[in-house]
Amino acid sequence: MHTIQIKDKTFGVSVPEADILAQVGRVADEINSDYAGQKPIFLVVLNGAYVFAADLLRRITLDAELRFIRVSSYQGTATTGQVNQVLGLDCSIEGRHVIVVEDIVDSGITMRHLLDTLQAKHPASLAVCTLLVKPENLRVQLDIPYWCMKVPAAFIVGYGLDYDQMGRNLRDIYALVES
Ligand code: IMP
Ligand code: MG
Repeated sequence: MHTIQIKDKTFGVSVPEADILAQVGRVADEINSDYAGQKPIFLVVLNGAYVFAADLLRRITLDAELRFIRVSSYQGTATTGQVNQVLGLDCSIEGRHVIVVEDIVDSGITMRHLLDTLQAKHPASLAVCTLLVKPENLRVQLDIPYWCMKVPAAFIVGYGLDYDQMGRNLRDIYALVES
């Protein structure tokens, strides 16, 4: 297998670029058809979703609005542990059809929290569109209407996803090879 080295870890190709783009096209077609006649607002979760969003949105033929948000996680001082904050949402989503564009849903905890935060702002509808899902790791109840690929639990880099900020520029998706 063709492998690459990033820092201390070895990765092998998991999904080649052509397969990724085929799935991105499929999902874009589904959204174009499901939202026909609507003007959805796409909320792209930085940083990881930037490559996916660039390819997906150029295949969207709807009158679409595109915005970028971040989910910051920091250690709270209380015993509750990790707290996630949604940053950068500088417009109203009330009454709008919202599609969240994410790189990967792993445990689903980040997405669950993001959806709860956005739902409180009374959108007309709220849907998840993710490049990848790791079904084995999903720990919360989550409806994911739009996903490109399901992958095994191994750590992923490439096509926007990083290992310690490296690997985002890789055209294919790579998975960690256990040594
Ligand atoms: P979750 O809350 O466990 O679903 O994970 C949320 C975030 O962790 C994702 O949005 C990614 O930014 C990051 N993440 C999860 N798995 C991977 C991976 O395999 N590679 C790179 N980032 C990941
Ligand atoms: Mg992410």
